[in-house]
Amino acid sequence: MEPIKKQIRNFVIISHVDHGKSTLADRFLELTNTVPDNKMQEQFLDMMDLERERGITIKLQPVRMELDTDSLKIKNLKLKIPDSKFILNLVDTPGHVDFSYEVSRALAAVEGAILLVDAAKGVQAQTLANLELAKKQGLAIIPIINKIDLQQARTEETKQELAKLLNISEQDILSISAKKGINIEKVLEAIIAKVKPPEINQDRPLRALIFDSKFDSYKGVIAYVRVIDGQISNDEKIYLMASETESKIKELGYFKPELSPQKKLSAGEIGYIATGIKEPGKVRVGDTITKLKVKSEKLKIVDIEALPGYKEPKPVVFISVYPENSDRYGLLRESLNKLKLNDASLYFEPEHKEIFGQGFRCGFLGSLHLEITVERLHREFDLDLVVFSPSVVYKIIDKVDKEIFVYSSAEWPDLAIIKEIQEPYVKLEIICFSDALGNIMKILDELQGRYIKTEYLGLNKPLLTYHIPLREVITGFYDKLMSVSQGYASMNYEILGYEKSDLVKLEILIIGKKEEAFSRIVPKEKAYPEARTFLKKIKEVLPQQQFSVPLQAVIGGKIIARETISSRGKDVIAPLYGGDYSRKRKLLEKQKKGKKKLKEKAQIKIPSDVYLKVLS
Ligand code: GTP
Repeated sequence: MEPIKKQIRNFVIISHVDHGKSTLADRFLELTNTVPDNKMQEQFLDMMDLERERGITIKLQPVRMELDTDSLKIKNLKLKIPDSKFILNLVDTPGHVDFSYEVSRALAAVEGAILLVDAAKGVQAQTLANLELAKKQGLAIIPIINKIDLQQARTEETKQELAKLLNISEQDILSISAKKGINIEKVLEAIIAKVKPPEINQDRPLRALIFDSKFDSYKGVIAYVRVIDGQISNDEKIYLMASETESKIKELGYFKPELSPQKKLSAGEIGYIATGIKEPGKVRVGDTITKLKVKSEKLKIVDIEALPGYKEPKPVVFISVYPENSDRYGLLRESLNKLKLNDASLYFEPEHKEIFGQGFRCGFLGSLHLEITVERLHREFDLDLVVFSPSVVYKIIDKVDKEIFVYSSAEWPDLAIIKEIQEPYVKLEIICFSDALGNIMKILDELQGRYIKTEYLGLNKPLLTYHIPLREVITGFYDKLMSVSQGYASMNYEILGYEKSDLVKLEILIIGKKEEAFSRIVPKEKAYPEARTFLKKIKEVLPQQQFSVPLQAVIGGKIIARETISSRGKDVIAPLYGGDYSRKRKLLEKQKKGKKKLKEKAQIKIPSDVYLKVLS
């Protein structure tokens, strides 16, 4: 159907992770007949295998739905809305803090946001963080409590929390069950009533904001766009303003949610433009697409103001990544470029290490982002990788007061030149139920966190603020938090800046040889227990060899802990039954000598999954 602008509604669903965004989107897809019954599956918009396996949304996903209130799929469902036909452009977003850049981009493409809150868990950290983003963008907010069907639902308390947070009346909050389909029609009514239709700037020259992209080997880079002004047909030429690139469109259309080719896209709409551009770096998220030839003679491209783009995301966790087989460096570079199209927050730059050759230093928004990216490189591009310990960026002041930024333990300077070590600190906010507060504070104190304050979102709902080294937040803190709160606590953090810290480099030797990938930076006072735990972990996951393998932990050349992986004993005397003792001894002696020789020459190859297991 040809859209009339006042009948378009562009919106996102935002929430904390797992509060039910994709499930609510499923109900919309069903009600509007966007996906036929036989194709429907749970969390339909989570299209990557990895998303389905992990049960989390990683990528934003737009979908265009046609709502015809006269032929809604649920019989007898009467919507209290005036017109009968609407276009609903929904962008499903991830809920995990590491993917908040996906959320922020989606917000710039819409006019409204459904703020979904789990009735059992109530307001959580990303509820607050995403709400802040939506407010900054000036979006209409539709507060909704989901999962009211759960036995442990605390619908009334959650309503109070949310009403206090938004400074609204409890009556303005809808209560639904996305899973059971309860009150979904009320959500549709609220979207139509509260989300403003997009402004109509059809007659102005084309300006379309790229909010996401992906690579297609035939159609080139496919830009996901929100058309702000003007319109564009599928046979026209486009111009990308920031990258100063021109191209002839290969195809354009809507997301249904698969790509559905159309003849044109116009102001107010969300859709895609297959640019035909094959170099991924030329199509950047946040860039403005306009037409190469502006129809009105008076206006030239230089007169068109580019749309405000996005703030470049700032990676906080870094790793070095090398192909296991150095011949595959080119493939790794190409794969990272393609992945970046689909993940604008991914940062990488080439680097070189003596033993590993050419590789990349990659930056991420958090440790889940890192883990997912390494997994995607392996799955989508069939790459076996050597991945170094994740690290924050340390600042070292040397003896002549020069600042050195260190991105990985491999670059840690010699002790002799270090005057002062600094590391990034974050403001960490944790929301939990009161009963978990004591245990959470205990963990934070152990991690050298500085208590700042406790506020209350509801009677039983403290919001705790600490200042803590980022290094602690990215290494296993989340799992600890989940375990002491039975999964009910949630966290968010923002970088504060650098602070002085007492840190040392812990090195691991395997058969006396330094295994740089396992080196890590640790607080001096925790070096010994860390070394013991780490060696035990390596011992668990490193496959046994034909000879025993000594593992040592070293600081500044001094061994502080050791472990030994015993040899994979081949039972050489098994075939000999009974008597012949001297033959048995001979065989064992021979085996011992052989092992000694092996050990002298020994160099073991560490499979990449071992790196991942050890470093996870
Ligand atoms: P992320 O995108 O990863 O943040 O998750 P999400 O917000 O999209 O949540 P999702 O829709 O994947 O739902 C998370 C879990 O909650 C799934 O197991 C759903 O089946 C369940 N769920 C969602 N809505 C409801 C509901 O109304 N009631 C009940 N009982 N479970 C629900």
